[in-house]
Amino acid sequence: MSEREEELQVLKTVKSFQAEKTNLIPMLQQIQALVGYLPSWGMEEVAKHLSIPVGEVYGVATFYNQFRLTPPGKYQVKVCTGTACHVKRSYVILEEWERRLGIKEGQTTEDRLFGLEKVACVGCCALAPVVVIRHNSTEAFYGNMMTSKVNGLILEVERKEGDGSAR
Ligand code: FES
Repeated sequence: MSEREEELQVLKTVKSFQAEKTNLIPMLQQIQALVGYLPSWGMEEVAKHLSIPVGEVYGVATFYNQFRLTPPGKYQVKVCTGTACHVKRSYVILEEWERRLGIKEGQTTEDRLFGLEKVACVGCCALAPVVVIRHNSTEAFYGNMMTSKVNGLILEVERKEGDGSAR
């Protein structure tokens, strides 16, 4: 979907709701389902539609951690921080991704190639620590993850994207 199409879809979604404050969270959920995050212009449209201050919309969006305010990366890296993975020091793996990508958890690289987030148990604790990389709608699981594997995965993505200077 192009940016313009995204914008039109979001506007249509916003208008499809009755202008009642109880619809605020469902509206935000639907926008996020459409474009993968809550763009500021989308939140402004919601505020306008519900006749509430935009600060109130931001307040709700930042309160619930189901909402993200930055666009996801084309390759979204999810580091599992569930108990089994935590015990196997997944936080060190997360730090390595942060260091290699030059971003913090919850952020996306400037070129939007990589996004980084921590997630709760992804359901394969026997393989802890686990990292999942989401691309389009496919998820690749990497078990028994080690810091020494992080750079290789980054290079693999860059190669797939055609040239090593993708970021
Ligand atoms: S805690 Fe990481 S897969 Fe279960």
